[in-house]
Amino acid sequence: MKVFVTRKIPEEGLKILEKECDEVQVFPHDRIPKKKEIIEGIKGKDGLLCLLTDPIDKEVISSGDRLKAISIYAAGYDNVDVKEATRRGIIVSNTPDVLTDATAELAWALLFAVARRVVEGDRFTRSGKFRGWSPLLMLGKRISGSTLGIIGAGRIGTAFALKSKGLNMKVLYYNRSKNEVLEKELGARKVSLEDLLKQSDFISIHLPLTPETHHLIGEKELSMVKKGAVIINTARGAIIDEKALAKALKEKRIFGAGLDVYENEPEVNEELKKLDNVVLLPHIGSATFETRVKMAILAAENLVASLKGKKPKYCVNPEVFDKLRG
Ligand code: GLV
Ligand code: GLV
Repeated sequence: MKVFVTRKIPEEGLKILEKECDEVQVFPHDRIPKKKEIIEGIKGKDGLLCLLTDPIDKEVISSGDRLKAISIYAAGYDNVDVKEATRRGIIVSNTPDVLTDATAELAWALLFAVARRVVEGDRFTRSGKFRGWSPLLMLGKRISGSTLGIIGAGRIGTAFALKSKGLNMKVLYYNRSKNEVLEKELGARKVSLEDLLKQSDFISIHLPLTPETHHLIGEKELSMVKKGAVIINTARGAIIDEKALAKALKEKRIFGAGLDVYENEPEVNEELKKLDNVVLLPHIGSATFETRVKMAILAAENLVASLKGKKPKYCVNPEVFDKLRG
Protein backbone atom coordinates (compact mmCIF):
# COMPACT_ATOMS: atom_id res chain seq x y z
CA MET A 1 0.00 0.00 0.00
CA LYS A 2 1.51 3.29 -1.14
CA VAL A 3 -0.11 6.64 -0.43
CA PHE A 4 0.40 10.30 -1.29
CA VAL A 5 -0.62 13.05 1.13
CA THR A 6 -0.91 16.48 -0.49
CA ARG A 7 0.08 18.49 2.59
CA LYS A 8 1.41 17.89 6.07
CA ILE A 9 -1.55 17.09 8.35
CA PRO A 10 -1.44 16.55 12.15
CA GLU A 11 0.98 13.77 13.13
CA GLU A 12 -1.73 11.61 14.67
CA GLY A 13 -3.02 10.91 11.16
CA LEU A 14 0.36 10.45 9.52
CA LYS A 15 1.33 7.91 12.22
CA ILE A 16 -1.63 5.72 11.31
CA LEU A 17 -0.64 5.83 7.63
CA GLU A 18 2.99 5.07 8.44
CA LYS A 19 2.00 2.07 10.53
CA GLU A 20 -0.37 0.65 7.92
CA CYS A 21 1.25 1.53 4.60
CA ASP A 22 4.48 0.56 2.86
CA GLU A 23 5.11 4.06 1.63
CA VAL A 24 3.77 7.42 2.77
CA GLN A 25 4.86 10.35 0.65
CA VAL A 26 3.88 13.76 2.00
CA PHE A 27 4.10 16.84 -0.24
CA PRO A 28 7.14 18.52 1.30
CA HIS A 29 6.24 22.20 0.96
CA ASP A 30 4.05 24.39 3.17
CA ARG A 31 1.84 25.58 0.34
CA ILE A 32 -0.99 24.36 -1.84
CA PRO A 33 0.48 21.93 -4.39
CA LYS A 34 0.06 22.67 -8.08
CA LYS A 35 -2.04 20.30 -10.11
CA LYS A 36 1.00 18.86 -11.86
CA GLU A 37 2.63 18.20 -8.49
CA ILE A 38 -0.42 16.20 -7.40
CA ILE A 39 -0.36 14.28 -10.68
CA GLU A 40 3.33 13.55 -10.09
CA GLY A 41 2.65 12.56 -6.46
CA ILE A 42 -0.03 9.97 -7.16
CA LYS A 43 2.00 8.10 -9.79
CA GLY A 44 2.26 4.52 -8.59
CA LYS A 45 0.21 5.23 -5.44
CA ASP A 46 -2.81 3.26 -4.28
CA GLY A 47 -4.21 5.97 -2.08
CA LEU A 48 -4.51 9.76 -2.06
CA LEU A 49 -5.17 11.89 1.02
CA CYS A 50 -6.06 15.36 -0.20
CA LEU A 51 -7.32 18.69 1.08
CA LEU A 52 -10.19 20.90 0.01
CA THR A 53 -7.70 23.17 -1.76
CA ASP A 54 -6.67 20.44 -4.22
CA PRO A 55 -8.45 20.29 -7.58
CA ILE A 56 -9.00 16.55 -7.89
CA ASP A 57 -10.58 16.68 -11.33
CA LYS A 58 -10.87 14.20 -14.17
CA GLU A 59 -7.30 14.87 -15.33
CA VAL A 60 -5.82 14.21 -11.89
CA ILE A 61 -7.95 11.15 -11.20
CA SER A 62 -7.21 9.59 -14.59
CA SER A 63 -3.47 10.06 -14.03
CA GLY A 64 -3.57 7.80 -10.97
CA ASP A 65 -2.49 4.58 -12.62
CA ARG A 66 -3.03 2.49 -9.46
CA LEU A 67 -5.40 4.75 -7.54
CA LYS A 68 -8.03 2.89 -5.52
CA ALA A 69 -9.00 5.36 -2.82
CA ILE A 70 -9.26 9.11 -2.26
CA SER A 71 -9.60 10.35 1.30
CA ILE A 72 -10.56 14.00 1.67
CA TYR A 73 -9.41 15.87 4.76
CA ALA A 74 -12.64 17.90 4.83
CA ALA A 75 -16.38 17.50 5.06
CA GLY A 76 -17.05 19.24 1.75
CA TYR A 77 -15.98 17.37 -1.38
CA ASP A 78 -16.94 19.76 -4.17
CA ASN A 79 -13.26 19.89 -5.23
CA VAL A 80 -13.29 16.20 -6.18
CA ASP A 81 -14.87 14.84 -9.34
CA VAL A 82 -16.70 12.09 -7.47
CA LYS A 83 -18.51 10.97 -10.63
CA GLU A 84 -15.21 10.25 -12.35
CA ALA A 85 -13.87 8.47 -9.28
CA THR A 86 -17.01 6.36 -9.09
CA ARG A 87 -16.77 5.53 -12.78
CA ARG A 88 -13.24 4.25 -12.16
CA GLY A 89 -14.20 2.30 -9.05
CA ILE A 90 -12.23 4.58 -6.73
CA ILE A 91 -13.59 4.86 -3.19
CA VAL A 92 -13.98 8.45 -1.96
CA SER A 93 -14.28 9.32 1.73
CA ASN A 94 -14.51 12.51 3.82
CA THR A 95 -14.43 13.77 7.42
CA PRO A 96 -17.81 15.13 8.47
CA ASP A 97 -19.11 14.96 12.07
CA VAL A 98 -15.78 15.67 13.81
CA LEU A 99 -15.87 19.27 12.60
CA THR A 100 -19.55 19.97 13.18
CA ASP A 101 -19.28 21.86 16.48
CA ALA A 102 -16.12 23.72 15.49
CA THR A 103 -17.74 25.03 12.32
CA ALA A 104 -21.02 25.87 14.05
CA GLU A 105 -19.06 27.77 16.71
CA LEU A 106 -17.20 29.78 14.09
CA ALA A 107 -20.51 30.69 12.46
CA TRP A 108 -21.63 32.05 15.85
CA ALA A 109 -18.34 33.92 16.23
CA LEU A 110 -19.04 35.60 12.89
CA LEU A 111 -22.67 36.30 13.79
CA PHE A 112 -21.72 38.03 17.05
CA ALA A 113 -18.80 39.84 15.42
CA VAL A 114 -20.99 41.28 12.67
CA ALA A 115 -24.01 42.09 14.86
CA ARG A 116 -21.92 43.91 17.47
CA ARG A 117 -19.25 45.26 15.11
CA VAL A 118 -16.45 43.53 17.00
CA VAL A 119 -13.78 43.63 14.30
CA GLU A 120 -14.63 47.17 13.21
CA GLY A 121 -14.54 48.23 16.88
CA ASP A 122 -11.13 46.67 17.36
CA ARG A 123 -9.76 48.52 14.32
CA PHE A 124 -11.32 51.75 15.61
CA THR A 125 -9.79 51.37 19.08
CA ARG A 126 -6.32 50.43 17.84
CA SER A 127 -6.21 53.35 15.45
CA GLY A 128 -6.67 55.79 18.34
CA LYS A 129 -10.17 56.92 17.39
CA PHE A 130 -11.74 56.02 20.75
CA ARG A 131 -12.43 59.33 22.52
CA GLY A 132 -14.59 57.98 25.34
CA TRP A 133 -17.99 56.37 25.85
CA SER A 134 -20.64 57.77 23.59
CA PRO A 135 -24.43 57.21 23.34
CA LEU A 136 -24.36 56.65 19.61
CA LEU A 137 -21.01 54.95 19.14
CA MET A 138 -20.96 51.71 17.12
CA LEU A 139 -24.56 50.74 17.51
CA GLY A 140 -25.19 47.18 16.46
CA LYS A 141 -27.99 44.72 16.10
CA ARG A 142 -29.96 42.92 18.78
CA ILE A 143 -29.49 39.14 18.72
CA SER A 144 -31.63 37.78 21.59
CA GLY A 145 -35.26 37.40 20.64
CA SER A 146 -34.69 37.98 16.93
CA THR A 147 -35.35 35.56 14.06
CA LEU A 148 -32.68 33.10 12.95
CA GLY A 149 -32.83 31.56 9.47
CA ILE A 150 -30.85 28.38 8.75
CA ILE A 151 -30.23 27.53 5.11
CA GLY A 152 -29.38 23.83 5.09
CA ALA A 153 -30.24 21.83 8.21
CA GLY A 154 -27.69 19.02 8.01
CA ARG A 155 -25.21 18.26 10.76
CA ILE A 156 -23.64 21.72 10.93
CA GLY A 157 -26.84 23.69 10.37
CA THR A 158 -28.55 21.69 13.12
CA ALA A 159 -25.66 22.16 15.57
CA PHE A 160 -25.55 25.87 14.76
CA ALA A 161 -29.29 26.27 15.37
CA LEU A 162 -29.22 24.27 18.62
CA LYS A 163 -26.55 26.62 19.98
CA SER A 164 -29.14 29.43 19.82
CA LYS A 165 -30.77 27.97 22.93
CA GLY A 166 -30.50 30.65 25.56
CA LEU A 167 -30.86 33.45 23.04
CA ASN A 168 -34.59 32.94 22.80
CA MET A 169 -34.65 33.20 19.01
CA LYS A 170 -37.42 32.28 16.62
CA VAL A 171 -35.83 29.68 14.32
CA LEU A 172 -36.75 29.10 10.65
CA TYR A 173 -35.05 26.62 8.39
CA TYR A 174 -34.91 25.85 4.70
CA ASN A 175 -34.12 22.23 3.98
CA ARG A 176 -35.21 19.45 1.69
CA SER A 177 -36.53 17.31 4.52
CA LYS A 178 -38.15 18.03 7.85
CA ASN A 179 -35.71 18.31 10.77
CA GLU A 180 -37.41 16.69 13.77
CA VAL A 181 -34.64 17.70 16.17
CA LEU A 182 -34.95 21.39 15.36
CA GLU A 183 -38.73 21.30 15.47
CA LYS A 184 -38.81 19.49 18.81
CA GLU A 185 -35.92 21.29 20.54
CA LEU A 186 -36.48 24.81 19.25
CA GLY A 187 -39.98 24.87 17.85
CA ALA A 188 -38.28 25.66 14.53
CA ARG A 189 -40.39 25.96 11.38
CA LYS A 190 -39.52 24.61 7.92
CA VAL A 191 -40.16 27.38 5.38
CA SER A 192 -39.51 28.23 1.73
CA LEU A 193 -36.27 30.02 0.87
CA GLU A 194 -38.25 33.14 0.05
CA ASP A 195 -40.02 33.19 3.42
CA LEU A 196 -36.74 32.57 5.22
CA LEU A 197 -35.05 35.48 3.44
CA LYS A 198 -37.98 37.82 4.06
CA GLN A 199 -38.40 37.03 7.74
CA SER A 200 -34.96 36.34 9.20
CA ASP A 201 -32.80 38.88 11.01
CA PHE A 202 -29.82 36.52 10.83
CA ILE A 203 -29.29 34.06 7.99
CA SER A 204 -26.64 31.35 8.16
CA ILE A 205 -25.69 29.07 5.28
CA HIS A 206 -24.88 25.39 5.88
CA LEU A 207 -25.23 23.65 2.53
CA PRO A 208 -22.75 21.73 0.41
CA LEU A 209 -21.72 23.34 -2.89
CA THR A 210 -23.38 21.55 -5.80
CA PRO A 211 -24.62 22.71 -9.22
CA GLU A 212 -28.01 23.31 -7.51
CA THR A 213 -26.64 25.47 -4.69
CA HIS A 214 -24.18 27.49 -6.81
CA HIS A 215 -25.26 31.17 -6.49
CA LEU A 216 -28.35 30.08 -4.55
CA ILE A 217 -28.12 33.54 -2.98
CA GLY A 218 -27.90 35.95 -5.90
CA GLU A 219 -29.15 39.42 -6.68
CA LYS A 220 -32.80 38.36 -6.71
CA GLU A 221 -32.57 36.57 -3.37
CA LEU A 222 -30.61 39.42 -1.79
CA SER A 223 -33.36 41.81 -2.83
CA MET A 224 -35.82 39.67 -0.82
CA VAL A 225 -33.70 39.67 2.33
CA LYS A 226 -35.24 41.64 5.20
CA LYS A 227 -33.74 45.11 5.34
CA GLY A 228 -30.94 45.28 7.89
CA ALA A 229 -30.43 41.50 8.12
CA VAL A 230 -27.08 39.75 8.57
CA ILE A 231 -25.79 36.91 6.38
CA ILE A 232 -23.22 34.37 7.58
CA ASN A 233 -21.46 31.89 5.29
CA THR A 234 -19.19 29.17 6.65
CA ALA A 235 -20.12 26.62 3.96
CA ARG A 236 -18.74 27.33 0.47
CA GLY A 237 -18.20 30.73 -1.09
CA ALA A 238 -19.86 30.09 -4.43
CA ILE A 239 -23.24 29.51 -2.78
CA ILE A 240 -23.45 33.32 -2.65
CA ASP A 241 -22.96 35.57 -5.68
CA GLU A 242 -20.13 37.61 -4.13
CA LYS A 243 -20.57 40.57 -6.47
CA ALA A 244 -24.25 40.88 -5.61
CA LEU A 245 -23.44 40.55 -1.91
CA ALA A 246 -20.84 43.32 -2.10
CA LYS A 247 -23.46 45.55 -3.73
CA ALA A 248 -26.08 44.83 -1.05
CA LEU A 249 -23.52 45.54 1.68
CA LYS A 250 -22.32 48.72 0.03
CA GLU A 251 -25.86 50.02 -0.34
CA LYS A 252 -26.48 49.00 3.30
CA ARG A 253 -29.60 47.09 2.29
CA ILE A 254 -28.31 44.44 4.64
CA PHE A 255 -26.62 45.31 7.92
CA GLY A 256 -23.59 43.12 7.43
CA ALA A 257 -22.10 39.78 6.49
CA GLY A 258 -19.64 37.35 8.01
CA LEU A 259 -17.71 35.17 5.59
CA ASP A 260 -15.29 32.32 6.15
CA VAL A 261 -15.38 31.13 2.53
CA TYR A 262 -15.09 32.78 -0.90
CA GLU A 263 -16.02 32.14 -4.48
CA ASN A 264 -12.42 32.02 -5.73
CA GLU A 265 -10.31 31.13 -2.71
CA PRO A 266 -7.81 32.33 -1.73
CA GLU A 267 -8.83 35.45 -3.68
CA VAL A 268 -11.22 37.77 -1.87
CA ASN A 269 -13.44 40.15 -3.80
CA GLU A 270 -11.81 43.61 -3.75
CA GLU A 271 -15.14 45.35 -3.13
CA LEU A 272 -15.72 43.29 0.00
CA LYS A 273 -12.29 44.18 1.36
CA LYS A 274 -13.16 47.87 1.23
CA LEU A 275 -16.31 47.51 3.35
CA ASP A 276 -16.55 47.88 7.11
CA ASN A 277 -19.78 45.92 7.49
CA VAL A 278 -18.31 42.57 6.52
CA VAL A 279 -16.05 40.34 8.60
CA LEU A 280 -13.67 38.24 6.50
CA LEU A 281 -12.01 35.09 7.85
CA PRO A 282 -9.49 32.80 6.08
CA HIS A 283 -11.57 29.56 5.89
CA ILE A 284 -11.00 28.44 9.49
CA GLY A 285 -14.35 26.80 10.28
CA SER A 286 -12.79 23.52 11.41
CA ALA A 287 -9.59 25.09 12.72
CA THR A 288 -9.40 24.04 16.35
CA PHE A 289 -6.53 21.90 17.64
CA GLU A 290 -8.95 19.14 18.69
CA THR A 291 -10.89 19.03 15.44
CA ARG A 292 -7.89 19.05 13.13
CA VAL A 293 -6.40 16.09 15.00
CA LYS A 294 -9.70 14.22 14.79
CA MET A 295 -9.91 15.00 11.06
CA ALA A 296 -6.37 13.67 10.54
CA ILE A 297 -7.13 10.40 12.34
CA LEU A 298 -10.45 9.97 10.53
CA ALA A 299 -8.98 10.77 7.10
CA ALA A 300 -6.14 8.28 7.69
CA GLU A 301 -8.52 5.58 8.96
CA ASN A 302 -10.86 6.18 6.01
CA LEU A 303 -7.96 5.75 3.58
CA VAL A 304 -6.59 2.62 5.24
CA ALA A 305 -10.04 1.00 5.41
CA SER A 306 -10.70 1.81 1.74
CA LEU A 307 -7.37 0.35 0.67
CA LYS A 308 -8.06 -2.81 2.66
CA GLY A 309 -11.36 -3.19 0.82
CA LYS A 310 -13.44 -2.25 3.86
CA LYS A 311 -16.11 0.42 3.82
CA PRO A 312 -14.65 3.62 5.30
CA LYS A 313 -16.60 5.23 8.14
CA TYR A 314 -17.67 8.11 5.88
CA CYS A 315 -17.97 7.06 2.26
CA VAL A 316 -19.02 9.61 -0.33
CA ASN A 317 -19.69 7.05 -3.08
CA PRO A 318 -20.75 3.83 -1.31
CA GLU A 319 -22.09 2.49 -4.60
CA VAL A 320 -18.48 1.78 -5.65
CA PHE A 321 -17.90 -0.27 -2.57
CA ASP A 322 -21.13 -2.16 -3.00
CA LYS A 323 -20.22 -2.88 -6.62
CA LEU A 324 -16.73 -4.12 -5.66
CA ARG A 325 -18.29 -6.44 -3.11
CA GLY A 326 -21.24 -7.31 -5.34
C1 GLV B 1 -14.21 22.73 5.37
O1 GLV B 1 -14.59 23.68 4.72
C2 GLV B 1 -14.58 21.39 5.12
O2 GLV B 1 -15.37 21.11 4.21
O3 GLV B 1 -14.08 20.53 5.85
C1 GLV C 1 -21.47 18.50 7.29
O1 GLV C 1 -20.82 17.75 7.98
C2 GLV C 1 -22.92 18.61 7.33
O2 GLV C 1 -23.56 17.57 7.13
O3 GLV C 1 -23.45 19.71 7.57
